[in-house]
Amino acid sequence: MTSKLRLGVNIDHVATIRNARGGPHPDPVRAARMAARAGADGITAHLREDRRHISDPDIARLRAEIDLPLNFEMAATDEMLSIALKSKPHAACIVPEKREERTTEGGLDVVGGHNHLKRFVHELGNAGIRVSLFIEASKEQLDAAVHLGAPVVEIHTGAYCDATAGVLRDHELARIADAVTYGRSIGLEMHAGHGLSFETVSPVAAMVEISELNIGHFLIGEAIFTGLENSIAEMRRLMDMARQKDSEN
Ligand code: PXP
Repeated sequence: MTSKLRLGVNIDHVATIRNARGGPHPDPVRAARMAARAGADGITAHLREDRRHISDPDIARLRAEIDLPLNFEMAATDEMLSIALKSKPHAACIVPEKREERTTEGGLDVVGGHNHLKRFVHELGNAGIRVSLFIEASKEQLDAAVHLGAPVVEIHTGAYCDATAGVLRDHELARIADAVTYGRSIGLEMHAGHGLSFETVSPVAAMVEISELNIGHFLIGEAIFTGLENSIAEMRRLMDMARQKDSEN
């Protein structure tokens, strides 16, 4: 069981702010460098079909200038597959993508999408890229991920983070806990992410079956008030504290 919990910092929204004006500032690669100094274990970036945040040159620069592992979030399209195979990130996380959505709204349908996804999982894996599938906390999706040969899944924590604190949120948290326990038992490496904040991260970080959290929007928003290194360092501290507490129990 992994006791160290990795933090992947998603820098998409540094690019969103840059793109609002069309110039080079603020630079997501500079943010990645700062994230490394603040305790991130990896950098996550989602190259969308419409390039609304991260761009192709950003991906090239992240590979050339940043030593941390890059987790490349991508839709299962031929265009993204060819970019991934060319830029050879450490990892690729296949996510569902809808043109009209504001953010990645739900998990991938691995059960229904088996035939479409198979080629992507195999080609990325054969190129030595660690493949993960971004899914809802569901036993059927976990079984389907194993069937497809994906070594890693990332559980979508959006419903948990969006739920009002109390019974509803506890219910979503229990679903995540069941999924990560089951996922580990069938041999999957378990990651989680989406919507996590200082308020919601600790109970998820305390789940010892999870080896990586990917967090972006909240960290970049919080950086406006406290600076990027401080916001990442505080997230790192909360994650480590939750993990430490759990190992003491
Ligand atoms: N993990 C995955 C697979 C994602 O698609 C995203 C959002 O791009 C995140 C994590 C990070 O979510 P957030 O920006 O809400 O922290």
